Amino acid sequence: MNTLDTLRTLMGRIPVLEPGHVWLAGAGPGDPAHVTLDAVAGLAQADVVVHDALVDPRVLAMAREGAALEFAGKRGGRPSATQADISERLIVLARQGKRVLRLKGGDPFVFGRGGEEALSLTEAGIPFRVIPGITSGLSGLALASIPATVRGINQAVILATGHGADTNDGLDWAALAATGQPIILYMAMKTLPQITHALVAGGMRPDMPAAIIVSASLAEERILIATVSDIADRAAAAGLEPPAIVAIGEIVTVREQLMRLIPQVLEHVS
Ligand SMILES: C[S@@+](CC[C@H](N)C(=O)[O-])C[C@H]1O[C@@H](n2cnc3c(N)ncnc32)[C@H](O)[C@@H]1O
Repeated sequence: MNTLDTLRTLMGRIPVLEPGHVWLAGAGPGDPAHVTLDAVAGLAQADVVVHDALVDPRVLAMAREGAALEFAGKRGGRPSATQADISERLIVLARQGKRVLRLKGGDPFVFGRGGEEALSLTEAGIPFRVIPGITSGLSGLALASIPATVRGINQAVILATGHGADTNDGLDWAALAATGQPIILYMAMKTLPQITHALVAGGMRPDMPAAIIVSASLAEERILIATVSDIADRAAAAGLEPPAIVAIGEIVTVREQLMRLIPQVLEHVS
């Protein structure tokens, strides 16, 4: 059975990626196990897949035979494409009548610049569809056995970017600390010392539990549990590198209880 036949069995009707249309899709945190069937349908039909660095090669391997794979990310030692270049490229490809899949890590509308690309496509009159993905902030937590919400612990979850925290255009960290709600940080490894310092200076208790999940869902996944006061130093000492999610809040303590019964190594059906 080919991919489209498998999808037809699973989905009933497969959404059609039309020539001249763009799908803005999320590929989840990395492991192909977390890719949605809609995204696979896009991969199985696209003429061109314009992807970011965080999209796993195993996900790209699901692209239709003969599909062009175009890297449009900002990592991997290759020259960075600007956001304007990427949006322009999507418009050019669509105007050439190509079926375009724009594939991003996680969810395209969560710190993924998918909103900007959707606005550019709208302005250019290019028909597009948004395919949600599983965002790394929430899936990374779940995979690390840290529930995003626990009744009696929190009533909200703050998703924030660490980007810009080392300059004055960053967030009001004291205001976030004052909410008492857990803070889930994307792109925060570089600015973690400044952020954690600002949170404690803003009133967060210094022994607030904190976690870092590196490369969630992938073989190289690493998890560090610490406190808001020492997590930046411990991450540096352990040599932790992006991509990583940082979680700061009481919810982190639940992991220890859950880990008692969760198997460390998942068995796979052969
Ligand atoms: C440009 S943002 C993209 C976020 C993405 N749109 C999402 O919804 O997950 C990149 C950041 O996402 C986080 N990230 C993405 N994949 C990750 C993974 N597998 N494990 C940990 N963090 C990840 C890291 O904070 C990384 O710096």
